[in-house]
Amino acid sequence: MISVSHSQFFPKVGDRVETIDTPAVVVDLDLVDANVSKLFALFKAKKKAVRPHLKTVKCPEFAQMFLSAGAIGVCVAKVSEAEVLAAAGIEDILITTEIAGDLKIKRFINLLRNHPKVKIVVDNIEAAKALDAEAQSARVKPSVLIELNVGQNRCGVEPGDPALRLAQSIGKLDSLELVGVQGYEGHLQHVHDRKERERLCREAINKLVDTVKLLEQNGISIKIVTTGGTGTSEFCSEFAAVTEVQPGSFAFMDVDYRNAIGTSYANALTIVSTVISKPAPNRVVIDAGLKSLSTDSGNAEVQGMKGIAYTPGGDEHGILQIDSASIPLKIGDRVHMIPSHIDTTINLHDFYICHRKGILERIWNISARGKVQ
Ligand SMILES: Cc1ncc(COP(=O)(O)O)c(C=O)c1O
Repeated sequence: MISVSHSQFFPKVGDRVETIDTPAVVVDLDLVDANVSKLFALFKAKKKAVRPHLKTVKCPEFAQMFLSAGAIGVCVAKVSEAEVLAAAGIEDILITTEIAGDLKIKRFINLLRNHPKVKIVVDNIEAAKALDAEAQSARVKPSVLIELNVGQNRCGVEPGDPALRLAQSIGKLDSLELVGVQGYEGHLQHVHDRKERERLCREAINKLVDTVKLLEQNGISIKIVTTGGTGTSEFCSEFAAVTEVQPGSFAFMDVDYRNAIGTSYANALTIVSTVISKPAPNRVVIDAGLKSLSTDSGNAEVQGMKGIAYTPGGDEHGILQIDSASIPLKIGDRVHMIPSHIDTTINLHDFYICHRKGILERIWNISARGKVQ
């Protein structure tokens, strides 16, 4: 069987972006470099560590780029993502989502045998006990962080006494080492008004730092206090007790984030697509539908073309429409689409086509795409 990725139709380093097949994920490395430099300079000045969340990029090569820029480690959302990154040589990985169930716990503990710096969050004693039991039989010592509910009302033990009780119970287990606390204010990342986002973020992070203080007053040492996304990390980093921030979307950005926080980080990634049909003067159809561009945060935008609206026309089709007269696109033309939500869009694709000034420089596998376990 001929693999398309090795066929004559697969792009090569040195090709021009205009020549690659579509739909494809196109990354402007100059813009990513600028985003990465800007973010790391900001937190260096604030003397805060950065542990970027890789649920956006899902790719070891981008992880290495962040580590070279000064990241102390990385976050992932799932055990299966951690497996991909650990296999690629990345050791300090925080899994930011709770796990449950025998098989998943065995899978996590198995990862620790060769990668002891992988850490995970817990928010309940049942999971902590199950982790502890498996860790004892495998003779490993997992580092865990308590996840706190700072207002997102997703996972996370409540701040204050419930968190203290959980920490004390974890302290009685033989194999788990409690190393930190995570609070992620995901509900605030896209609050449009900057002042309001900052005010709400301060409220949320006060819950985190007050709880850290309470744990420490009770003799529990907390080394890591981690929180923050692209929309809030800068506010979180104002708190002395916060040791690190975990933004992810800043590397590529998307329409949803740009609408919320502006253009301080550049839009560095597009899905290039081809016009395959022009059934009416004011409507064309492109080859990027729901399987190429996610819609959970609204619709993608056409880069550089105002007044043209995109709607998915099904799994494989996208419709571009203009209210007035004629749409300035013909069959075979290519458009660059800016995803509305970068994380869910990336999970649909196999490769990053990375270029500088239109010339392909790197083709990277999105190795952790589909890794949702
Ligand atoms: C726990 C956690 N931390 C950090 C992030 C990164 O946030 P963002 O992509 O908004 O920068 C996310 C994103 O969902 C998250 O779930």
